[in-house]
Amino acid sequence: MSSSDDRYAVVAIDGPAASGKSSTAEWVAGELGYCHVDSGALYRAVTAAALRTGIPPEEWGPRLVLDAARAVSMTLSGTSMIPSLDGASAEAEIRSPAVNAAVPRVARMQQVRLWVNERVRGIALERNVVVDGRDMGTAVFPDADVKVYLVADPWERAKRRLVQHLRRLPTNEEIAAETDRLVHRDALDATQSVQARDAVQIDTTHLMQEEQVARIVALARAAIRP
Ligand code: CDP
Repeated sequence: MSSSDDRYAVVAIDGPAASGKSSTAEWVAGELGYCHVDSGALYRAVTAAALRTGIPPEEWGPRLVLDAARAVSMTLSGTSMIPSLDGASAEAEIRSPAVNAAVPRVARMQQVRLWVNERVRGIALERNVVVDGRDMGTAVFPDADVKVYLVADPWERAKRRLVQHLRRLPTNEEIAAETDRLVHRDALDATQSVQARDAVQIDTTHLMQEEQVARIVALARAAIRP
């Protein structure tokens, strides 16, 4: 429960593409014993569901996307809420290049944003959460107990994302191409990806992940009484 009233606690972690939000949020949730909710995974799952229709993304409208979203449900896996598609986990599918390319189009649809926000807020009504995304500390939880905005140099973000996917050290050419894709997606996401005025910015370019986790856990312990 939050210290300020009797609602559950919310730790909101936002930041640009591949800034390490989700892995950090999952770790922080584990440390605090909270539930991790990755709002980006929901946008990705809805996008993957729309891709399954076979209709090209250029032709999608909110009605088609919301219809496809009916295949998406959230299930608890360990301490994380994970989206599933037609009842099955679709982790590889929601991280595919096709989803990367199409997700900003879906994320710009206001009806889809309302749909996602309703689900994320619904989870937070029933348990303490660490939520991550682009607008968790602004549009979705303006009263979050802790707000963090993670930033990192685009080259470093691209390198981390590739290491995660390829499980080997990427070449400079690969990092350069991934940096272009990330910067392009940041530009498409710029409207909803704004740092809250009361967020603590953490630049992770030169940080080990455990350091950023420790800082966020300390912020949460200071702000939230057990
Ligand atoms: O790959 P990355 O970690 O950057 O992204 P993500 O958190 O998995 O989110 C994927 C996409 O969903 C973003 O590029 C945004 O278009 C959208 N998104 C959003 O608009 N608002 C959120 N709260 C979370 C994600």
